[in-house]
Amino acid sequence: MEIIEKIIENKNGTTILAHSYQSPDILSVADVKGDSYMLAKAAAKLDSKRVVVCGVRFMAEVVKILSPEKEVVLANPAAGCPMADCVDFEKLQAVKKEFSNIPIVSYINTTVQTKAISDVCVTSSSAVKIIKAMPEKELIFLPDRNLGSWIQKRIPEKKIILWDGCCPVHNSVLGSEAKREKRRHKDAFLAVHPECNSDVTSVADVVGATSTILDLIMDLDVPVIIGTEIGVYDFIKANYPEKKVYQLCPDKLVCKDMKLTTIENVYDAVTGKGGEVIEIDEETRLLAKKSLDAMLKYGN
Ligand code: 13P
Ligand code: SF4
Repeated sequence: MEIIEKIIENKNGTTILAHSYQSPDILSVADVKGDSYMLAKAAAKLDSKRVVVCGVRFMAEVVKILSPEKEVVLANPAAGCPMADCVDFEKLQAVKKEFSNIPIVSYINTTVQTKAISDVCVTSSSAVKIIKAMPEKELIFLPDRNLGSWIQKRIPEKKIILWDGCCPVHNSVLGSEAKREKRRHKDAFLAVHPECNSDVTSVADVVGATSTILDLIMDLDVPVIIGTEIGVYDFIKANYPEKKVYQLCPDKLVCKDMKLTTIENVYDAVTGKGGEVIEIDEETRLLAKKSLDAMLKYGN
């Protein structure tokens, strides 16, 4: 029997959550698939007792923070996020102490410890709406300086103090590479993720989260150059072959952490033979939950 059929047959009420950067076979068995915000929203409302997360560690942590009574399994325990791991916790504690009157807004791509020290959490698709809705005029944003500067341009009335982190995958694309692709496909829209640097976002036709790029491809009948992790391109090619899409920098826009999870890992996690059950101490979880609750409150 095919492994995909075996997963479906053995699920026994387990819910599978998969980020859009996962491979098409994994996305085909997922009950919920989407960007970080969609997965977090789903996590807050799940009925099942057991959840398998196909993505990276912070995504599984978000599910556990919002649904502590569930058994949450990260399908491949080695899948981390270098951007989430780039925050020096001692430095963050010192910043929090020194600027205790300025709220800390953290990107969802952070560890549970960073979320616990933050006031509000955001995703790339919800950040502008949430930061606009916050009453404070000044805030510290971490860890992605590229996303932070993109938000700053869209909310000039607020002062955003940036952390010096980035996503090594999206940040690696050069402005010259984006321009070259635009010249090559003159009729196409260049849609890039805000984790790309400003040399790239400044020449893009659309800058938006994974869900925005997917909506653009699905809703408009125009060719699109995809400027985010290659999983989105692979998903479109596998499921919507009629759509005209090109991948920007296919050798660079590959997140090796997102690609660690295999369909075999999903089978093992579903059947209880593999993966890692996420555990978070209750004090840290409750502090981190406050920043996610604030995200869901302002975001809705
Ligand atoms: P989204 O918030 O768009 O899902 O992005 C998550 C991510 O890891 C981007 O690199
Ligand atoms: Fe982290 Fe970048 Fe990979 Fe997203 S693409 S999981 S931000 S390293």
